[in-house]
Amino acid sequence: MRIKVATHSGFCFGVRRAINIAEKSLADSKYKNKIYSLGAIIHNPQVVETLSRKGIKVIRDISSISEGAIIISSHGAPIKTIEKIRKKKLRLIDATCPFVKYAHDIVEDLKVEGYKVIIAGDRKHPEVKALLSLAGKGRKTGKIGVVSQTTQDKSDYIKRILDILKNDFSEVRVFNTICKDTSHRQALARRLLDECDVMIVVGGKNSANTKKLWQICRERGVDSYHIETPDELKKNFFEGKSCAGVVSGASTPDLMVKDVVRKIKIQTKEG
Ligand code: F3S
Repeated sequence: MRIKVATHSGFCFGVRRAINIAEKSLADSKYKNKIYSLGAIIHNPQVVETLSRKGIKVIRDISSISEGAIIISSHGAPIKTIEKIRKKKLRLIDATCPFVKYAHDIVEDLKVEGYKVIIAGDRKHPEVKALLSLAGKGRKTGKIGVVSQTTQDKSDYIKRILDILKNDFSEVRVFNTICKDTSHRQALARRLLDECDVMIVVGGKNSANTKKLWQICRERGVDSYHIETPDELKKNFFEGKSCAGVVSGASTPDLMVKDVVRKIKIQTKEG
């Protein structure tokens, strides 16, 4: 059994940055035991669990918090939530990825210039919720600005844009806010799909970019499995296969990918 691992894995820039910000906040004794992350700081349950053992508690909303520091996750947060944190005079620690922030800036500019903003993405995802909060309802206008969730697949985004163009808008401005790291991982997955007959996608089950990688693999008709840890690997995944491809999401630690590869080697050696 050959095992091919995508040449780009481990944390993306924004995830690494968010974790560093969180770790640094723990060093501030002023907020000892009073540091909260609003939602998962990154979409990887194992990493979130490690941070919570170190003292960063995940909360869903800030209503019961009266003192301490609130970390905004790498996905950003809706404008009303930020305002609430400020109003309560809690310390705000912003770990929003700069590439997500770039999309925020575009949406804000479009709104000021009188464009109605369309966001291509999953409306339940925290990143999209934050973008929607900035876009507001928009004016009744024929001027449209289109922005994508950073983890979208480019070909899906192009389809959405073509659909939008079928409408009678007088002006459509399209922004490529898809993160390069995401596109790169997707391209590498497609490359491995040309060579491999089974694909292992490693990453949080709640991670949008990992789920997208898994979707890309399944759409190609190759047997593909989305796992978070090596414990989920089963021997029968590899029966009758000659090449296993391993890809990972942007919030998957490098060590987890290595552990997965090690386990595949053991399982396929045992026959
Ligand atoms: Fe940021 Fe891209 Fe990672 S948007 S969080 S660098 S996947």
